[in-house]
Amino acid sequence: MDHFTYKNGELYAEDVTISDIAAEIGTPFYVYSTATIERHLRVFDEALSGMPHLVCYAMKANSNLAVLRIAVKAGAGLDVVSEGELHRAIAAGCPGDKIVFSGVGKTHEEMQLGIEANIRQFNIESEPEMARLNEVATSMGRTARITIRVNPDVDAKTHAKISTGKAADKFGIPISRAREVYALAASMEGLEVVGIDVHIGSQLTDLEPYESAFKKVAELTYQLRADGHDIRRLDLGGGLGIPYQQSNEAPPLPFDYGQVIQRTVGDLGCEIEIEPGRLIAGNAGLLIANTIYRKNGEGRDFLIINAAMNDLIRPAMYEAWHDIIPVKEPAHDAPIAPVDIVGPVCESGDTFAKQREMAIVNEGEMVAFRSAGAYGAVMSSEYNSRPLIPEVLVNGSRFDVVRPRPTYDDMLKRERIPDWLK
Ligand code: LLP
Repeated sequence: MDHFTYKNGELYAEDVTISDIAAEIGTPFYVYSTATIERHLRVFDEALSGMPHLVCYAMKANSNLAVLRIAVKAGAGLDVVSEGELHRAIAAGCPGDKIVFSGVGKTHEEMQLGIEANIRQFNIESEPEMARLNEVATSMGRTARITIRVNPDVDAKTHAKISTGKAADKFGIPISRAREVYALAASMEGLEVVGIDVHIGSQLTDLEPYESAFKKVAELTYQLRADGHDIRRLDLGGGLGIPYQQSNEAPPLPFDYGQVIQRTVGDLGCEIEIEPGRLIAGNAGLLIANTIYRKNGEGRDFLIINAAMNDLIRPAMYEAWHDIIPVKEPAHDAPIAPVDIVGPVCESGDTFAKQREMAIVNEGEMVAFRSAGAYGAVMSSEYNSRPLIPEVLVNGSRFDVVRPRPTYDDMLKRERIPDWLK
């Protein structure tokens, strides 16, 4: 469920019309709904009720400071994967003890900053990374709390580019070697082992891979405890999928995901951490674009819109589907016709949808991409010197621009011509 609905023939974000926002800031833009983000955070909290837990929003999905602030105010923690994200977490007011640091290639500087911020834990992904963190922590006279990310070798049954839990993926250490690596961790003075971490992929639409992975984590918990480690936290990662195609997709509900967690690891007395990103932000955002032209091609029509692959790369990168709807509600009996929805960038990959059956949209009319709140704005670029598009946050009948559109001057000022070329 989200808060983007038609009322009196107009598309609304909560109580604001999309056309009012467009009139004020122009198109294209991203718009996010506060109520939807808050609701999704609550749903996970409820799904884990009965177990001590912390929901750490994976900010890679949408790291706008205003979005982070909503999560922080709701009491959530944050999952960060870079120095930049850690700076954002701190700027959003997230207490250090609610920040977990994930990622396969944490640098010396990132570790130092994490230790200075006294973060909750580093999720370690390899032995060299563990040795580096030990060095950094020791040189600072501190200890860093860690979990070790294990790779359970399960097939998450999702897109190959976002599957992370198979032996051939670059993530974590093989679960078969976990005991050995935990023994090594325990021997390092600068580290304190607090738990186990696992994350098997993103946009999972089946709970079975979670069930297999979490069972392996439960078994490992017993073994590690028998080996003398104090395993008190389990970070189970993120990855729960969302319905991108609302008419025919029904991914598992957070409640059922919570039941899997309860059933597999709920009795271990561990604090459960999860790192959902997409489910928090995905359906809380729309990308709004205007139609530049409707072009009649050979045997097909093209809707050429003013958003492009640089603004939303998911269709080009993962063949991802986004529902695309007109901003002005079509009449029930409006004719439906197939259309290719494309951006203005000079590559055929700049295609959002092929032969999409939808009500006819004409030049000057806006469309909304649903489920664009996660991995949308954060993955955008200025390819073709197209400025990053603004982000807007709605809260009831209020809205604010939470990242303004840069001017061309702003963009040019970031670069310089060296003296020898002047
Ligand atoms: N934790 C870790 C360690 C992760 O690598 C990820 C996502 C998450 C949590 C959050 O997963 P989520 O709940 O959002 O599925 N750009 C891609 C998705 C990449 C996901 C990367 N890791 C896309 O647009 O589909």
